[in-house]
Amino acid sequence: MIEPPSNEKDLAKGLMPPNFPADYVEGAVKPHFVNNIAVGEPLMLPMIDLAYSKEAAVNPHVWGMLYDSWTPSLEEDGATVFIQGYENRGENNARKKIYYSAMTRDLCDKYYADKLQRFFDTLLAPEAEGKPLMSRYLENYPDMYWDLHVAATGEDVPDEVRQFGYSFNTVLGYWYPTSDIVCENYMKVRELRAPLKEWLDERVQDIMDEKVEGFEGTFVHYWVKNGELGENFRRKDIVFECFHNFLALSQWGNLFYQVLLRLSKDRGDQAIRESFDKMMSGEDPDAKDGGAFSPLDRFAMELMRVIAPNGGSYSTLQSQQRLLTSGYNAISHPHPQVNRDEKHWSDPDAFNPDRYKQAATSHENDESKLAGLGLNKCPFHAAPMKVKDGRDTELTESVFGTVYGITDGTPAPVCDTAGYGSFGFGYRRCPGELLTIDAVKLLLKTVHREGLVFEENPSSDRQKIPAAPRVVLDDDLVFHRG
Ligand code: HEM
Repeated sequence: MIEPPSNEKDLAKGLMPPNFPADYVEGAVKPHFVNNIAVGEPLMLPMIDLAYSKEAAVNPHVWGMLYDSWTPSLEEDGATVFIQGYENRGENNARKKIYYSAMTRDLCDKYYADKLQRFFDTLLAPEAEGKPLMSRYLENYPDMYWDLHVAATGEDVPDEVRQFGYSFNTVLGYWYPTSDIVCENYMKVRELRAPLKEWLDERVQDIMDEKVEGFEGTFVHYWVKNGELGENFRRKDIVFECFHNFLALSQWGNLFYQVLLRLSKDRGDQAIRESFDKMMSGEDPDAKDGGAFSPLDRFAMELMRVIAPNGGSYSTLQSQQRLLTSGYNAISHPHPQVNRDEKHWSDPDAFNPDRYKQAATSHENDESKLAGLGLNKCPFHAAPMKVKDGRDTELTESVFGTVYGITDGTPAPVCDTAGYGSFGFGYRRCPGELLTIDAVKLLLKTVHREGLVFEENPSSDRQKIPAAPRVVLDDDLVFHRG
């Protein structure tokens, strides 16, 4: 890990344009250049071994957006499960389960769906017809983001909090710290992080005091209740998770765009459009028809498989031999490749939502599956954690470590097979998966209900939209009611 030098004369000089602050060059540009990322093998099991660690597993130029010190300072300034090795998460992935307690399907149904629907109704309102879609997405995104976390929208979200999110997403999208736009927004994030944390801290207190209307429909409420402000989810960790989540939710922009592009009239994917029409005009798309997933679930999951918005599972590595290198050694196990790997699917290139009728789920993958794989034991086993927020919900895991929820005795599993890699694998698989699937489902239903037709924006004057890490889109989609 590179520590920025404390001595002025040791700072890097003359390598970047003079308007780049020296601490930025040391803390962001330099780590970016010395980071080594190896490409891992496409996985054969829905599991990542503990040798691949999540401890400090972030592209190192991002640290300065999270911490004043430009280097990780989890103990002092707040932690997120995202950058913790399994061994530091409490027993049996405790921090992950506490995080997940705010993401279970029953909460999506009861609270988050309405918030997401409000967002889609605004995004796709009649007055937005014919206007570039993604600029409107960016404009309304902060209300949806803060509504989910702390039940704040409109005037309850201060301008500097909106600006923080905008700058954070701009850095993620443009990514390369050598560019002016990244440098400028990066320094803005650093400037606004203290006021943001102050605002968040007050909001967390108000949620704890039940002073915020709709407090039980926020992520924060479940993190407080189930972490009990203990060592695996301290108050400063809750504040930290609330803004670190910009990294996670930043992927929604690109995902929603990719979904709508595939449904679009002029540039869409024929097989996906036909499958969509057939599914929506069939029997109730929301009804479970025997398996763990409804037709709409399966359609959304298949979109996730073919779009694969997240490129790979990113881990830090131990070194066996090293002298002069930076200490940043990472490996990325690719997702798009496993999703389309013939080792896993007989028809990897077909758009076939029915594949999830047979695929194993996290609820089915217990110890009994190991013998068939020639394995004696896995590093994980089911260790249910009951929530403490008054619901009859427990978080448990498959034998591969994939965490999922069971509420009122009904499991809400995920597809737990190596050919479905879009949300990662095992102990560090995405806890926001069901929320993301539900968001896609609501988007699809809105498109169908309103008869929306998407097509290319005829204007050539298109805004650039940072829509996910390393993704900047042309604002080239418009819609109208068909
Ligand atoms: C397009 C949407 C999303 C995609 C494709 C996605 C994908 C992923 C992937 C691939 C991982 C595993 C990373 C790794 O192992 O290196 C992951 C982890 C994670 N995701 Fe997501 N994610 C999405 C949305 C979300 C949302 C909406 C949330 C929260 C509300 C979220 C929270 C997290 C967290 C906390 C982790 C770390 C889990 C752990 O290390 O145990 N993600 N996500």
